[in-house]
Amino acid sequence: MSILDSARGLRIPLPHPPHRGVFISFEGGDGAGKTTQMAMLRNHLVTERSVAEDLILTTREPGGTPLGVSIRRLLLHGEHVDPRAEALLYAADRAHHIATVVRPHLARGGLVLGDRYLDSSIAYQGAGRSLEPEEIGSLSLWAADGLLPHRTILLDVPTETLDERRDTTGQDRLEQAGADFRATVRQEFLDLAAADPERFAVIDGTQPREEVHAQVLAAVAEVLGLFDPTFEPAPPTKHRDEQ
Ligand code: TYD
Repeated sequence: MSILDSARGLRIPLPHPPHRGVFISFEGGDGAGKTTQMAMLRNHLVTERSVAEDLILTTREPGGTPLGVSIRRLLLHGEHVDPRAEALLYAADRAHHIATVVRPHLARGGLVLGDRYLDSSIAYQGAGRSLEPEEIGSLSLWAADGLLPHRTILLDVPTETLDERRDTTGQDRLEQAGADFRATVRQEFLDLAAADPERFAVIDGTQPREEVHAQVLAAVAEVLGLFDPTFEPAPPTKHRDEQ
């Protein structure tokens, strides 16, 4: 009997929010306004709530680490990538980013604002690329050792509106994918949100950005209560805080 006959497969960790710190992810189609809203939230926390700047980590996937920057280049500006290879590369970026950047910051009691997380993989690689969304979700959970955000803000914008907003010069590989792909991705995000209303807040991203910002603030108010802005971060340790 070979090892493959007896292999029971990957053990997928149970999804869980961090034990310390606060993790908020932003999701949505390309051009939905994630970057703008993350910057507005960060600015609000620093100027209105006196949160120390170094307690807020604004990061993104793919590309939140030096390794991730290389993976991002391969994924978005390289040659055609087979869908399974694409899924694994996003998962590799995520595994390294979570282990080396996100978890250490959370372990210090910090706030992480993430521009995309595992829901993007489920929507883009799962639904969009016709792999199984459940498998992609499991792969990402394995990669991230089960880490889920406390809150995920989904900025929902109809595909046609995103198409109007998009600057089509210098588009990356995924931005060049067709309208059907983008519509499928949007629907998968909405389905994910409907299935987990505790984690997700869906915000209409076609509204004026100040209005979207006000709704983002309302959506994160409760989880920010978990965050102690007076907390002084200790120097990072080599050990993870969790498990
Ligand atoms: P993003 O950084 O949001 O794009 P931008 O270039 O506008 O800053 O995301 C890059 C692309 O990667 C985007 O088209 C979505 C895609 N993506 C996936 O397909 N799967 C994933 O897991 C992630 C994180 C992103």
